[in-house]
Amino acid sequence: MADKTSNAMWGGRFSEGPDAIMEAINASIGFDQRLAAQDIAGSRAHAAMLAAQGIITSKDADAIREGLLTVLSEIETGSFPFSAALEDIHMNVEARLKELIGEAAGRLHTGRSRNDQVATDFRLWVRDQCDAAMDGLGALQTALVDQAEAGADWVMPGFTHLQTAQPVTWGHHMLAYVEMFGRDRARLSDARTRMNDSPLGAAALAGTSYPIDRDATAHALGFDRPCANSLDAVSDRDFALEFLSAASICAMHLSRLAEELVIWSSAQFRFVALSDRWTTGSSIMPQKKNPDAAELLRAKIGRIFGAQTALLMVMKGLPLAYSKDMQEDKEQVFDAADSLMLALAAMTGMVGDMQANRDALRAAAAHGFSTATDLADWLTREAGLPFRDAHHVTGSLVALAEKRGCDLPDLSLADMQAAHPAITQDVFTVLGVDNSVASRTSYGGTAPDNVRDQVARWRKRLSES
Ligand code: ARG
Repeated sequence: MADKTSNAMWGGRFSEGPDAIMEAINASIGFDQRLAAQDIAGSRAHAAMLAAQGIITSKDADAIREGLLTVLSEIETGSFPFSAALEDIHMNVEARLKELIGEAAGRLHTGRSRNDQVATDFRLWVRDQCDAAMDGLGALQTALVDQAEAGADWVMPGFTHLQTAQPVTWGHHMLAYVEMFGRDRARLSDARTRMNDSPLGAAALAGTSYPIDRDATAHALGFDRPCANSLDAVSDRDFALEFLSAASICAMHLSRLAEELVIWSSAQFRFVALSDRWTTGSSIMPQKKNPDAAELLRAKIGRIFGAQTALLMVMKGLPLAYSKDMQEDKEQVFDAADSLMLALAAMTGMVGDMQANRDALRAAAAHGFSTATDLADWLTREAGLPFRDAHHVTGSLVALAEKRGCDLPDLSLADMQAAHPAITQDVFTVLGVDNSVASRTSYGGTAPDNVRDQVARWRKRLSES
């Protein structure tokens, strides 16, 4: 129901309360109550600064601080009376503060607007999410490094086009994701650095004539400095978009790994066994063990991409400074952050529990002519053929093996020599998968020794971060 009376915070010029539908479209308290802790932290910093600058008395500032602590504990214990008529978290907190401490509450909003208030609260919230996502990524990287260390020399097929390409090591494949998630962490860290300027004190859009100390409030809230332009401070949400961008790229990486887990855990691949803790059964097919966590993770990623697009759409047509459209920033970011944290936790659990099937990996690596490149390299190195010719000769041997239904090492020396007379018995030393991976010692290559070096490098980096 709409209030009959006008709004106590801004209703001086209004003689009627809002229509019920207006209240429904206008109120954000249903979701922005998630900013309560940040809102109260911002108000405490603001009130302390106002007193330090002599703008309000320290008696009022003390009352405000005590009252805000009571409000926070009411919110934390679930006894706080949220009201849609009071629109948002900012006015809910202030109205309750007034009930608790009386007139002094009305001095809190001196030299401040909800525009700089919400921008401050939201930056603080997104900053926390950057920290949480970086921690989550660190845990996932550690789980992947553990897998890499255990399987530094386990051979598996490497794919291009999902067709067998060349043998690689399990450890190398795990570390490929560690690199990707490392860049995701760096992107979040960069975004965090850039967003760490304080909007508080920008007021509605133009700054204020009160002698406020923006450095003090910035410092109290852990910001590096105040935003330099009041219009920019209240009217941009690029910090949220940067978080969503970094989250989207990270989510894309998570989704690719989830896809691999779905494929690898199938009966056709049997590369990994996911644990019971991350799979489900079927109500009709008793044999089933479905990779639901990986599938849901893969699907949830779409919500994060959607949030980024939605917020770009909200922002793209807005003239400076604040427009109410910007209230639509929060639900997107909340949902994306929740999805990202859940996906990171689920992936860390799945990776930690999964068992690679060393024998199946090895058997698959030996199929599909995965060492054909090694044969061509041998012809180039040992018989002096130009690589293009060696490639052609090897291709004819692959065709022969395919016709016979065997793999390259199963062909006889006579078969090999019929394809090219320079081939000797020595060629068979390069057709095994272990030889193949051991030979890939170029920096960044898949050789087990390289993998062990990279495991050590990552252990060190992860322990430092
Ligand atoms: N609930 C609003 C939001 O989230 C707070 C800012 C309101 N400012 C205003 N000028 N109406 O954007």
